[in-house]
Amino acid sequence: MGPEPIVVFRHEPFPQLFVALSGYRVRMDSVARKMEMGPSLSLAVPDRSGNRRVNNGGQSMAESANPRFFDLVGNVRAMRRLKPDPVPMELIWKVLNAGVQAPSGQNTQPWRFVLVSDPTSKKWFADRYKQAIEKRSGLTRGASLRKKNPGRQLKALYYQIDHMHEVPYLLFVCGKCDWPFKVPEHERIGEGPPNYGAVYPCVQNILLACRALGLGAALTTMHQVFEDELRAYFQIPLDYGVVVTIPIGYPEGNFGPVTRRPAEDVTFFERWR
Ligand SMILES: Cc1cc2nc3c(=O)[nH]c(=O)nc-3n(C[C@H](O)[C@H](O)[C@H](O)COP(=O)(O)O)c2cc1C
Repeated sequence: MGPEPIVVFRHEPFPQLFVALSGYRVRMDSVARKMEMGPSLSLAVPDRSGNRRVNNGGQSMAESANPRFFDLVGNVRAMRRLKPDPVPMELIWKVLNAGVQAPSGQNTQPWRFVLVSDPTSKKWFADRYKQAIEKRSGLTRGASLRKKNPGRQLKALYYQIDHMHEVPYLLFVCGKCDWPFKVPEHERIGEGPPNYGAVYPCVQNILLACRALGLGAALTTMHQVFEDELRAYFQIPLDYGVVVTIPIGYPEGNFGPVTRRPAEDVTFFERWR
């Protein structure tokens, strides 16, 4: 007997309800319903390594094109003002399981997560994060700087620095160290850098999932300044690097659209000119 297949019905009235049916587990997925993903039946069959393949039951192109996706993807702003209110673990699993749907070279899935909610650990991190920013940018130096009417993003950054220890969760997304192809074997000494490129699709899925669930999140990388210390504190092995730190919680403010140059402005045809 192989692992148990899971049938997921979407657009059903009961949230997160598991029913035994003819040897299959049936899940009514309310979040998918909220996102109006369209009615679908998907069959997920775990293989020997525990991976699950999902067959979405043959939707037409018109059915599978989802206008809500395009709203969502344009509304995933860095949310730096977060409430300390607790976030149910059920939502965090939803977010992390969206993360692991990302593609990776040869499906190696080189990401690992360290989820931190312990107040002492969060304070430890927040103190070092603040010091790192101060060291690199002078951002927190002197109250006078803060009073100089900083812009919206800077204000949000100050808020994040001051409240980092209060967020419900700090998520470290780690990546397996792996030399890039372009570095020849004989030039590789010791551990390579974490495979950043392989982890960022997972990170973006996490940010999208947070947004879809009404959670605020912000991608941060300043931990790189004290990464060795961070690795030691959280017992992260040497063959993994911490790619991003994502504080997660309910947002203080409103979600809103991102500001980006349109693709038409940054696309060349046939040749870069
Ligand atoms: C590789 C990368 C590194 C980033 N590092 C940080 C960081 O250390 N701290 C931070 O507050 N935001 C960081 N960000 C978030 C960006 O500042 C943010 O996405 C950008 O300013 C656009 O703002 P918006 O997402 O609110 O539209 C990073 C984003 C990326 C892609």
